[in-house]
Amino acid sequence: MALFASSTCDVPATSAVPRHVAIIMDGNGRWAKKRLLPRFAGHHRGVETVRATVRTCLERGIEFLTIFAFSSENWRRPQEEVSLLMQLFVRALKDEVSKLHRNGVRLRVIGDLSRFDADLQALIRSSEERTAGNRRLILTVAANYGGRWDILQAVNRMLLSEPEKSGEWAESDLAPHLAMSYAPEPDLFIRTGGEQRISNFLLWQLAYSEFYFTDLLWPEFDAAAFDAALASFQQRERRFGRTSEQLGQRVDDSPASTAAATSRRIDA
Ligand code: IPE
Ligand code: IPE
Ligand code: MG
Repeated sequence: MALFASSTCDVPATSAVPRHVAIIMDGNGRWAKKRLLPRFAGHHRGVETVRATVRTCLERGIEFLTIFAFSSENWRRPQEEVSLLMQLFVRALKDEVSKLHRNGVRLRVIGDLSRFDADLQALIRSSEERTAGNRRLILTVAANYGGRWDILQAVNRMLLSEPEKSGEWAESDLAPHLAMSYAPEPDLFIRTGGEQRISNFLLWQLAYSEFYFTDLLWPEFDAAAFDAALASFQQRERRFGRTSEQLGQRVDDSPASTAAATSRRIDA
């Protein structure tokens, strides 16, 4: 059985504070350019914003934070920038994991990790293992991640695991194979940097997420800016296909909401 309610198969439980926030951290390069600094200086500053964002999530009781660190299309950048980003990723993992661990944060990395150096892959695995027992916040870093890659790898695994179901596969057969099957779908999606696009982030999982765009560049996205996004989220009416009038009615006894309630637990 699925661990979490699907926004399309069930009507998930909602809450004033999002359980899961997914962020496209964009605008590092422009932040640096405005200051006549190399693009890398923006990425460097961006790590500080990640640190602050994790802290805000812990303080606000957000259970899942997912951040887009490197997309499957970011390999198209100049070789030098790609290599500096990889070094920054290694540095950040080495520097931050102890603190994450002390704060009860579990780190997970999603994406096609096979393209990374063996050393980086080993570092990712050991960081994940070290924090595997933590439950306070699940921090997922999407690295060499693409929404299309995720759906395709899940389809491939589904077909291999249940070939006999030919032509009869359901959403619930696919979902467990997605890279983030351990998390509920994001309630809130934030993109900094002014662009209003998904850039191949969580294509499947964002089906019913609330979207929030800000012109602030990622290094400028502080706790107050995060709180503004959370306040905007609280104003949203999440209908999941229903009418506004239906939302006032009791749905507690419906099979879907019972399933949603029982599935609201974290992967043990
Ligand atoms: C986002 O900032 C970080 C990564 C994609 C790694 P950008 O590097 O895309 O910054 P801009 O969009 O060029 O300002
Ligand atoms: C999206 O930002 C990817 C990450 C933040 C890691 P980009 O800067 O790569 O997105 P596009 O190219 O402007 O769509
Ligand atoms: Mg960008």
